[in-house]
Amino acid sequence: MALFGLTGKVVIVTGAGSGIGRATAQMVAGQGATVVVADIAEGPANETVQLITDAGGSARAFVGDIGDEETCNALIAEAAKDGRLDGLVNNAGIMDYFAGVGDADTELYRKVFRVNVDGPFFLSRAAMPHLLESKGSIVNISSEAGIRGAAAGVIYTMSKHAVVGLTRNTAYVYAKQGVRCNAVCPGGVATNIGQSMPQEKLNLAGLGAITPVHQSATGMAQPEQLASLVTYLLSDEASNVNGAIIPNDGGWFAG
Ligand SMILES: NC(=O)c1ccc[n+]([C@@H]2O[C@H](COP(=O)([O-])OP(=O)(O)OC[C@H]3O[C@@H](n4cnc5c(N)ncnc54)[C@H](O)[C@@H]3O)[C@@H](O)[C@H]2O)c1
Repeated sequence: MALFGLTGKVVIVTGAGSGIGRATAQMVAGQGATVVVADIAEGPANETVQLITDAGGSARAFVGDIGDEETCNALIAEAAKDGRLDGLVNNAGIMDYFAGVGDADTELYRKVFRVNVDGPFFLSRAAMPHLLESKGSIVNISSEAGIRGAAAGVIYTMSKHAVVGLTRNTAYVYAKQGVRCNAVCPGGVATNIGQSMPQEKLNLAGLGAITPVHQSATGMAQPEQLASLVTYLLSDEASNVNGAIIPNDGGWFAG
């Protein structure tokens, strides 16, 4: 049953081959939208499309690296090929290895920023003309690390704070033209994100420094608990919610 006003809309979800992105793509499609399932991994992207179409929904895959500007432009063009684009969920992201600034390496810095910051920037920019036409909505997936200093390493923390900056500026600048932009900040979520963080590279000093804060977390969420908030934020029911940076962490940030 459709609870939210997404019927007939076209929504891109990046990183939709796994975790929060897959759950969001399924939920958004269940509310009547056509979902463009974007992921760098072809097999998982096609699996998500299959899950959606098996359930009677509408979806198609786009395979590519959102760290690449031209790929971002191509994704937006493909999604808008039938003349409309209503929603963009900047969800794809990768972790760092918990290093503090004294130990953080340049290669990892560039790699994480490409995916976590360049991607949402390029995609939001290319999507904006279409969203201005549709009075559409962007939802950025930041993190607890986007609003506090002791949730991850310095690189991931910087990248997710940048996502908060992108969200607030976009929300304010385009508010009067009817485009909304919000961010969701998950705490721990049971997904495959650990695979982007090889265990042998973990920085134990950095991890040790933030462990007391991690121990105050209230538990692990399921991807669907994030997907429901994202789906709401995309919908017309959230028409007055703009520029919100929303923790979805069981109360961890409140402590
Ligand atoms: N899982 C958590 O505990 C947690 C906590 C806070 C924030 N987040 C954020 O939630 C978002 C989703 O993460 P998840 O936990 O579902 O992770 P996940 O690893 O399960 O899924 C991420 C997906 O993004 C895709 N991806 C990675 N790099 C890409 C690229 N360059 N181009 C296109 N697709 C790419 C991967 O193939 C994968 O399918 C991320 O932005 C992450 O930082 C996750």
